[in-house]
Amino acid sequence: MAEDITEACKKAAALLLSHPSSSRIRVVSHYDADGISAAGVLCTALYRAGFEFHATLMRNPFTKGFDRLKNEHNELIIFSDMGSGQIETIEHMGCKAIILDHHQYLTDQTSKNIVQINSNLFGVDGNYEASGATLSYAFATALDLANEDLAPLALAGATGDKQFIGGVRGFNKAILDNALQKGFLTEQTGIKLYGDTLADALFFSADPYYPGMSGNREAIETMLEKLSLEKSASLQDINHETMMRVHSFLLFRLIKAGCQQNILDMTIRKRYTAPQGWELERFADLLDACGKNGYRSLGLALCLGDSTAWKDALLVEKEYKQKLLDGLRLLEQGGIHETDGMRYFYVDNSSLGGVIAGIAMNYVLDEKKPLFSLTRKETDDEVHVSCRGNQRLVEQGLDLGSAMKTVAGELGGFGGGHKIAAGATVAFDKEKEFMEKVDTILVEQMKG
Ligand code: C5P
Ligand code: ZN
Repeated sequence: MAEDITEACKKAAALLLSHPSSSRIRVVSHYDADGISAAGVLCTALYRAGFEFHATLMRNPFTKGFDRLKNEHNELIIFSDMGSGQIETIEHMGCKAIILDHHQYLTDQTSKNIVQINSNLFGVDGNYEASGATLSYAFATALDLANEDLAPLALAGATGDKQFIGGVRGFNKAILDNALQKGFLTEQTGIKLYGDTLADALFFSADPYYPGMSGNREAIETMLEKLSLEKSASLQDINHETMMRVHSFLLFRLIKAGCQQNILDMTIRKRYTAPQGWELERFADLLDACGKNGYRSLGLALCLGDSTAWKDALLVEKEYKQKLLDGLRLLEQGGIHETDGMRYFYVDNSSLGGVIAGIAMNYVLDEKKPLFSLTRKETDDEVHVSCRGNQRLVEQGLDLGSAMKTVAGELGGFGGGHKIAAGATVAFDKEKEFMEKVDTILVEQMKG
């Protein structure tokens, strides 16, 4: 673990401990899998240290959430997986704050009330090497080393932000190695398949999305017949040799659909399982489903080990997956607009848009242009934009976060994010202008 982040976390822990242990600490985190895991790590650590906590999971552009927060009286707020991009608002709130973030920061200068621990300020790349949850883990272990058992939760967060791509590395890797060594995680290689039966696992496989098969019962039954497998075969009952055949078949299917090598490497790879029995990506999926489908507190309950939450979350996940599959199948059949620098589509639910775009980028469309999802919210006078690229485009110069920030800023909206995944919200009547300006920037970026 980078020395500086550890040191900074010790200072942040000292700031927390300067409050009486009966204090109620405010936790504010992002509503995606990384943010929910980060909140889970922090709330568990606070609870163990004797603090009360009040957690909120917020969605970009955070304006409504901050409006509510400003009306509260808090001594100390811990922001995780967000905060660096909202630092001006936080400064004006007049309370103490700890920020644990890995998104692009606006300034490294903060008043003495604020401790900003942004991985990028410590030379740790927030795109690939540290996430909101792993930085929260650094804070939790600085508070008490006994919180090392929260490593699976933290790494589930990093996994939710797809930081396993290209291999777990840097700051995250140090946490992983320690967790493996201490038995908080075990390692195995495989494809993500979960559900009661193999047929169900394949049907609900939205990421990876198997073109022509995910969400399509008939195609799955045909495939199972080909492999001489019963459609009611439970996953546990399938022997190793048959499972290897299923894996090969699925990989072949992805290759045939034109998936790039890095996507195949993402699909079949080293995976890590927690003592509770969940694999990191499987857990991140569950949190993502809760967060994006309007059940944020259920996601947090899962992280806090609430045993009844799991069953409820599975139901939420099925409903959510069905919506993703409906969107993806529509994209497979067309419905995409194209300009010089991007492709885009419209979707009713903005939370789903980014996820569908990310999956479609990897499994449905060719890799040449980033994919944007747009949600028009006339009643709020807003358009929500989510965009996703791929590794190759980023290597070529794509920086979606910077494009979103620049253009949304110019048009009086909010935008930002990472090179490979970003988002923005702009006024309803600015959509056309926004898209044209972004297109120009993207064409420039991808010239290299
Ligand atoms: O909303 P979506 O999931 O598409 O966001 C993708 C990424 O862009 C996230 O990391 C999010 O934090 C960031 N984002 C942002 N500002 C916005 C919208 C999204 O920084 N207004
Ligand atoms: Zn994150």
